Amino acid sequence: MSADPSSVSALPRYSRRVVEERDAHAELLADFRAGMLEAPRTLPPKYFYDARGSQLFDAICDTPEYYPTRLEADLLERHADAILEASGARTLFELGSGTSRKTEYLLAALEGRIAQPHYIANDVCAEILDEAGGRLLQRFGHLQVDSLCGDYAAALAHLGDVSGSPADGPRLFAFLGSSLGNFEDAEAAGLLQRIRETMNPEDRLLLGLDRVKPRPVLEAAYNDAAGVTAAFNLNLLSVLNTELGADFDADGFEHRAPFVEEHSRIEMHLVARRDQVVHVSEPEARLEIAEGEAIRTEISRKFSREAVDRLLAAAGLEHETEWSAPEEWYSLFLLRPGAG
Ligand code: SAH
Ligand code: TRP
Repeated sequence: MSADPSSVSALPRYSRRVVEERDAHAELLADFRAGMLEAPRTLPPKYFYDARGSQLFDAICDTPEYYPTRLEADLLERHADAILEASGARTLFELGSGTSRKTEYLLAALEGRIAQPHYIANDVCAEILDEAGGRLLQRFGHLQVDSLCGDYAAALAHLGDVSGSPADGPRLFAFLGSSLGNFEDAEAAGLLQRIRETMNPEDRLLLGLDRVKPRPVLEAAYNDAAGVTAAFNLNLLSVLNTELGADFDADGFEHRAPFVEEHSRIEMHLVARRDQVVHVSEPEARLEIAEGEAIRTEISRKFSREAVDRLLAAAGLEHETEWSAPEEWYSLFLLRPGAG
């Protein structure tokens, strides 16, 4: 999650700053203590994304089974102009931007409308921010790119360092890839509320969410035949080995990703293939993991119309426009902050 900042930060029109509220290592320690010492074991989603994890995620997006990226890219390609028109934005701020590949549709539309477009990217992975920044500067000759490296909350708290005055014009916030669906209801509503509180009245939020669809399509997307998603899931164990001095043996675990209808979500599990003991040096711990025990590493919610409306109401966000893929398999929602 750290990178040598020298090359890209030395470029004109690019900056990257670290915006963590707490240091990232201390946070992982706390989350590991809270979630991994006893069954049912679980961890927050952000720890997948070290440099290798980000590369593997990028590869997931290219698998034939992982439909969300293609559906969302298609919606963005077709509607970018309408989205920028409706938002009137001069700045684009994206949470969890990753490679920013789909974002290029929005940036092209933004560049077509104004002379000095501004893109603020946020991600926990420094390497991917610098790589994306370098690529975007080459494609867009007048774009200013500022990267905020840290988690969503930290980026929202520091957005004012790089943009903020209503006089700079409206901003389009983007939260794509159905990343909101990686959080349970209370946390998702809390995050959306923080987004709403950070928005000026004329700012808009573009939210991309994956929707309910037949089980075989869902389950294939999270268990591709080439095994890329399995490698991504298992990579979490190497992150823990590196960051916490643990000795997880990846061969001792198996990737599973069932659709759990009751919660309308895919659950990503690492299931122990045998009884095993894992040692961790910091925090010093000894985990006894029994054959068949599942570590839940991720949830990916599939939203019904009602679930979307409930969440937005809880967060005080209002519908402006929306665009959906055929059969509502994926949707983009353009939202405004409610008055309340
Ligand atoms: N928006 C891209 C990437 C989605 S994958 C797309 O739609 O394809 C999720 C991205 O969010 C990854 O790049 C990951 O590094 C980042 N991320 C995950 N948790 C995060 C958090 N808590 N705060 C900031 N970024 C996060
Ligand atoms: N936001 C993405 C999703 O829910 C994240 C994701 C895709 C993911 N594939 C994954 C997370 C595999 C963990 C494992 O679709």
